[in-house]
Order: sequence, then C-alpha cells, then structure tokens
Amino acid sequence: MFKKSIFTQILTSFITFALVVACSQNKAPNTTTSNNAGNTSTAAIPIGIAVAQTSNVSLLGQEQVIGAKIAETFFNDKGGVNGTPIKLVFQDTAGDEQGAINAFNTLITQDKVVGIVGPTLSQQAFAADPIADRAKVPVLAPSNTAKNIPQIGDYIARVSAPVAVVAPNAVQAALKINPQIKKVAVFFAQNDAFSKSETETFQQTVKDQKLDLVTVQKFQTTDTDFQSQATNAMNLNPDLIIISGLAADGGNLVKQLRELGYKGLIIGGNGLNTSNLLPVCKAQCDGVLIAQAYSPELPDEINTAFREAYKAQNKKEPPQFSAQAFTGVQVFVESLKALDTQTKVNTLPLDQLRTQLNQQILAGTYKTPLGDIAFDPEGEIKQSQFYVAQIKMDADGTNGKFTFLK
Ligand code: ALA
Repeated sequence: MFKKSIFTQILTSFITFALVVACSQNKAPNTTTSNNAGNTSTAAIPIGIAVAQTSNVSLLGQEQVIGAKIAETFFNDKGGVNGTPIKLVFQDTAGDEQGAINAFNTLITQDKVVGIVGPTLSQQAFAADPIADRAKVPVLAPSNTAKNIPQIGDYIARVSAPVAVVAPNAVQAALKINPQIKKVAVFFAQNDAFSKSETETFQQTVKDQKLDLVTVQKFQTTDTDFQSQATNAMNLNPDLIIISGLAADGGNLVKQLRELGYKGLIIGGNGLNTSNLLPVCKAQCDGVLIAQAYSPELPDEINTAFREAYKAQNKKEPPQFSAQAFTGVQVFVESLKALDTQTKVNTLPLDQLRTQLNQQILAGTYKTPLGDIAFDPEGEIKQSQFYVAQIKMDADGTNGKFTFLK
C-alpha cells in the first residue's frame, strides 16, 4: 500500500487549507466543480437560466435549454472565464408569470447567480424582470420580442430582436411569393403581451403595404378550438392570414384553418417559430412563413461551431430559440472575461460584480451565431441580419423542416 510521507501529508494539508481560504474569499460564485483538466477544484461562476421547461411554453423553452447547454460546454472547453469555468443553474419558469417570478427569486437569492438568461415569454418578462432590475441583477432576454422589454429597467437587455424589425420581413416574403395578395386577416392571442405587440406591427405593415386588413380575430393562448374565429375570417375570403400566438395554439389554429378549406398563404409570428409546431399542425403546417432572427447558414466561425455541435446532438439544423439562448450565455461569458481582465471577478463582492457586469454587457460587441451584435444604452440589441423561412412538410405529413427563402 502507498503510504504518504510526512512531507506529502503536510503539503496536502497546506494545499487544502489554501484552497478553502481561496474559495471562502470568493464571494460571487458558490458552486464547486472540476475544471477542464479535471484535476483541480475551482469555483465555477453561476449563470442563471430561467426558461419554460414544463407547460405548453416548453415547446419554445426546450430549444432554449439545448442552446444554453451547448454554450456551457463550448465556452468551458475554451477555458471559461480566463480559466474559471461557468456553471449554468436552471430554474423552470413554466409558462406563466408566477413561475417566472419564482425562478428569478430563487436564482437571485438562493443560487446567487451573476446574471440571468430568461424568461421565455415577454408576458413573463414584464412580471419577473422588474424583480431582477430592483435587485440589480443583469438579465439577457433570449426570446422576449415584445416592444419595451429593454425599457423595463437598466439591468434588462435582450439578444432577441424585437417584433418591429423582424415581423415585417414575413409580409414582404409573402408578397414576393404572391404579389396578388390584397385581403389580409389577422389573428392574435389577446392574453399574451408579445402577441399583442407583434400583431400591432403586423397590422401596421399590412397598412403600410396598402393591403386591405379585412378582419382582426382574437383568441387565447389556452384555446384549442378556433372554429368560430376561423369561420369569421374565411367568410371574408382573405388571401393572407397572419397569426400572432404561441406554438400550441398557433399550430392548432393553422390546422383548423386548413381543415376548413383555407388555401392562401399563412404567416406565423415568432411564437410559432419552432419545429415543435410540426407535431401540432402536421401536414397542414406546410407552407407557413415565419420570419427569423437567425440562419443556420451564416458562415461565421462561431455559428459554424454552434451549428455542428447542435447537429451532432439533435440531427437537424439549429433553430432560432437555441441560437439566441447560446448567444445569451455567450454575452455573459465574454463580458465576464472582459471584466476579469480589469478586476479579477472572483475577488468582487456579488453586488459589485453584477453591477459591473451589467455595464460591461452594454459596452461590448460580440461575434455570435446571430452575427455581429451589440446593445444600445437601453439594452436593445443591435443586429443587422434577418431572414424568412417556410415550413416544408414531407409527403406523409409527419416530418418537416424550415427552408430559408432567398
Ligand atoms: N417571442 C415570444 C415572446 O416574446 C416568445 O413572448
């Protein structure tokens, strides 16, 4: 049996003591993990991920979890924050405001994260973000696209481009496919902040394009039966229908419109932007147009790496929600690195670290899978490239994909 010499025992005790002292002085991160070499214990920097892992909203949230986890592995493999790994702490927001509030409170006070990527819905952000803002905890919204999200407070920024810049692209694409479009019917979920915001943009775009807005139909994100609204709209013979809702309700609405015999183009908004929609409307998803704030084909180095990692795991192209969640984590990591080169982040008290991190986030520029991005002083994303995809279903209606229009 190997027996330690007295010298080895003293040395081991000294190293253990030194590590304990170092960790106890490290006030911000409180999670212990092994670094990439796997042989040294070091305090990982906790970043909160508050997205919907349960409820209907998890159709979007599941994609965010995947994107965030790819980022965690990717950046830790590259040395994390100048040698210190990050650790994502997940709290499920489910699909409502209270779930988001609970997740934020737990991440802020119990998990002591340096910042939060989340929540999934704008509806949840308007309830939970003020809590983070009051606690001076930086939030990067990964998918909140309603108007006025960054304006919630100084600590709120977003990597999800707002409806005002993304949604009009889908109307332009529809007109390119069918220049004869004249009559437009609009549907929106009236109990959802994002859907209300997005429909305003869509309705304004319809007017700007000198199209005829023949009806505006309302529904709830919890609805499953859309017969009366669909019939009302179809009686007016629209040649374009635009839907602002979420994936489950939106998918059912598409399905029921087709089953009732609607043959024209359909635009889905950002809440329908997931392949998790496909099992809901199946064959009837075919042809739906959805504007995109991300393209898997962007040739940038970081997107190529992200795309390969995503495809290796999921055997399909990465979706926008995963790319944005990856980007949220990336912005935290790169901001922490920049801050760490000025002041070692693990020497800062947590409140100071959160405040300085927030300033650093707004000051930086980032090469991300979404392209080159930065923020304006309010925390609004500056992003230049947007796209439109069209859903193509296989003949049997079970599988399909988003094809990007030129
Ligand atoms: N983009 C959607 C929202 O903001 C998911 O709620």
